[in-house]
Amino acid sequence: MGELAPGRTDPPPGNGLKMAVVGKGGSGKTMLAATMTRILASTGKARVLAIDADSAVGLPYALGVEVQRTVSDLRNELIDDPRARREAQDRHASCLIGAILQRGRGFDLLVMGRPEGPGCYCAINDLLRYAIDTFSRSYDVTLIDCEAGPEQVNRRVVSGVGLLMIVTDPSMRGLRVAGSIWDVVRRDEHMKSTRVGLVMNRLRLGDNDRAMAESAARMGLEVMGRVPEDEDVARWDAAGRPLVDMPASSPSVDAIGGILRMLLPGSMTQAPEMGRSCGLRRRVNTETE
Ligand SMILES: Nc1ncnc2c1ncn2[C@@H]1O[C@H](COP(=O)(O)OP(=O)(O)OP(=O)(O)O)[C@@H](O)[C@H]1O
Ligand SMILES: [Mg+2]
Repeated sequence: MGELAPGRTDPPPGNGLKMAVVGKGGSGKTMLAATMTRILASTGKARVLAIDADSAVGLPYALGVEVQRTVSDLRNELIDDPRARREAQDRHASCLIGAILQRGRGFDLLVMGRPEGPGCYCAINDLLRYAIDTFSRSYDVTLIDCEAGPEQVNRRVVSGVGLLMIVTDPSMRGLRVAGSIWDVVRRDEHMKSTRVGLVMNRLRLGDNDRAMAESAARMGLEVMGRVPEDEDVARWDAAGRPLVDMPASSPSVDAIGGILRMLLPGSMTQAPEMGRSCGLRRRVNTETE
């Protein structure tokens, strides 16, 4: 279980690759972000920072980390508590945010949280953007699990990430949302050097992922990978167990390992749990290619 990560206010500099996961609500963003975090952390070769940028706060549970303090809590404390505000004046913002990083198994975690009561998320998103910019430099990989839809692309929370994965389930609605996010990204000057791709999640045998891939190609959107419908994910989620505890041989873990091997330098992705192949994935791929 997670604990505050002492001393993580000033970790040594890393390569700072930022990856963000966006897509329609319920398409599998958190599952993908959590599984990528777990795989990269398991290699022991990369310093990994996971960021839950979704105010609904789902990533910590998938990662098996208990949330202690969030960026939102920090902001509320500074607004509500004059003493905390006075003390904060003497400290750099990165120290303040660094103190709320939590440690998981082989990774650190930062949680945005939600503002108290109704209101605008601008200030939280600003703080989050600052935190992403500042801390990603200290890690080899930063993975950001975003809110559903294009809002955080609009608000430049994921501005300048190296890799943007747009997740869709095998529905036309999922693909349409993916298309609308892709439209926003394409028009954003700050995303010009971002590699953007579609990840098709929850594919079952017989799904017409070829038609989806063709639609993506018409939009000029690369298909980065396919993840099968995985009973283990459903079972683990239904039981409230962290997805990071799923067997490495689970079809989704295997498929996501394959996607990471394709996208990232070999040195980051060499680990015992990344070498397996999955029958369903092979069948899905060969049927559609
Ligand atoms: N490959 C998969 N196989 C089976 N179930 C899956 C798979 N991917 C995701 N799910 C299920 O779909 C649901 C939504 O997944 P997840 O929470 O990861 O989506 P999300 O995009 O993060 O949702 P939200 O927009 O609410 O944050 C969960 O119940 C999860 O168990
Ligand atoms: Mg989610």
